Amino acid sequence: MSRTSLPDPAATPPPAAGDASRAHARAAAEAPSLRLVRLALHGCFYALLAVALVPALTGPRAAAVAPAALALAAVYGAGAVRQARRPRLWLAAVTALWLALLVLDPGFSYVVFPLFFLWLHALPVRWSLPAVAAGTAAVVAAQAATPGGLTAAKVIGPAAGAAVAVLTAYGYATLYRESRARQRLIDDLVHTRDELAAAQREAGRLAERQRLAREIHDTLAQGLSSIVLLARAAESGTPEAHRERVREIGRTASDNLAEARRFVHALTPPALEDAPLPEALRRVTARTVPGAAFRLDGEPCPLPVETEVALLRLTQEALANVARHARADHAAVTLAFHDGQVTLDVYDDGVGFTPGTGPADGRPRFGLHGMRERIAELGGTLTVESAPGEGTAVAAALPVPAAAHPRDALGEAA
Ligand SMILES: Nc1ncnc2c1ncn2[C@@H]1O[C@H](COP(=O)(O)OP(=O)(O)O)[C@@H](O)[C@H]1O
Ligand SMILES: [Mg+2]
Repeated sequence: MSRTSLPDPAATPPPAAGDASRAHARAAAEAPSLRLVRLALHGCFYALLAVALVPALTGPRAAAVAPAALALAAVYGAGAVRQARRPRLWLAAVTALWLALLVLDPGFSYVVFPLFFLWLHALPVRWSLPAVAAGTAAVVAAQAATPGGLTAAKVIGPAAGAAVAVLTAYGYATLYRESRARQRLIDDLVHTRDELAAAQREAGRLAERQRLAREIHDTLAQGLSSIVLLARAAESGTPEAHRERVREIGRTASDNLAEARRFVHALTPPALEDAPLPEALRRVTARTVPGAAFRLDGEPCPLPVETEVALLRLTQEALANVARHARADHAAVTLAFHDGQVTLDVYDDGVGFTPGTGPADGRPRFGLHGMRERIAELGGTLTVESAPGEGTAVAAALPVPAAAHPRDALGEAA
């Protein structure tokens, strides 16, 4: 029970539970099925109140019954929909008003049934069972005052109702405990799964770094060291030998360039391989959030491959967040080239969130954090503007180096 103070079957642990676990349960989010039970209880209360009120309004005490019933409906409603600080005080007020109505008109006896559940769920067992017994006794006394006096049926009816309420409440408490335990288990599993994914990501990153180090060592570093040796050897010897060394240096450099091209090619995401950046982003946008708009501002200029890759990854991650979290009606991606910098904005009008606060479930997050690191490594900035209900805007700005080295630069030089 997160929003109401109503002693709430959905959030209140079994009657025997202590206050600490009650508070813990209150903090827990309410499952839809539990909310349904709570709403059914409120509906039952108002239905029984109305059923008793209608005939009472034509009775001799209508003048007193009407305001008392209104007061009961209002007090009950206030506690049911608003966060009352002191649920037990509220319950006491509801109980007192009901007792007053019962004294005025025994027709209000049936209202005791939802009250049974409230007492059983809101009070510790040492109070709730006596409350149920006292409520039953009050109903029996009210019924005894009706024409025909006290009969067996007038005792058995309320007593049976009380017994059913007590058994139901205990059964419900057991189910509730089991569902809480299951929820904790699911939370644990999800947490473990996320940790595993994080560990795998990290292992993948390390493996990739090792592979890159090996590649550089085996190709570029080897080639460069041969060039150094050839250059040293060229310093001495005949002019003919000198020319041969220089030719050798040229061949080695050329081979190395080919290696470097292969290398860069292998690192380029396929989306960027067969389309320029704006087109690649347009495709990613259409694929990830169908209906989202893509806009290009300014004149695209060549970017270093790592900048292009970062912008592509940022678009993918931000749009994945829109698809997963935002529940947005509109989303838009804007790529702009202005004044020596390239900017990327991903906007949505969805539910938003509070940036900087950890996620509600406490699980580690890598998306926004990873984006920020990647952009920062390239000398850029990433800002995330959002607030609950206000949509989200993710904006990155990256410098465009004066002599950018697009991925074709190596090819052009060769
Ligand atoms: N566009 C968005 N709309 C609403 N909430 C978002 C949006 N982007 C991010 N969030 C919130 O920020 C959290 C962190 O996002 P992120 O770092 O990408 O991690 P993840 O997507 O794995 O949850 C998300 O769990 C979500 O609650
Ligand atoms: Mg994400």
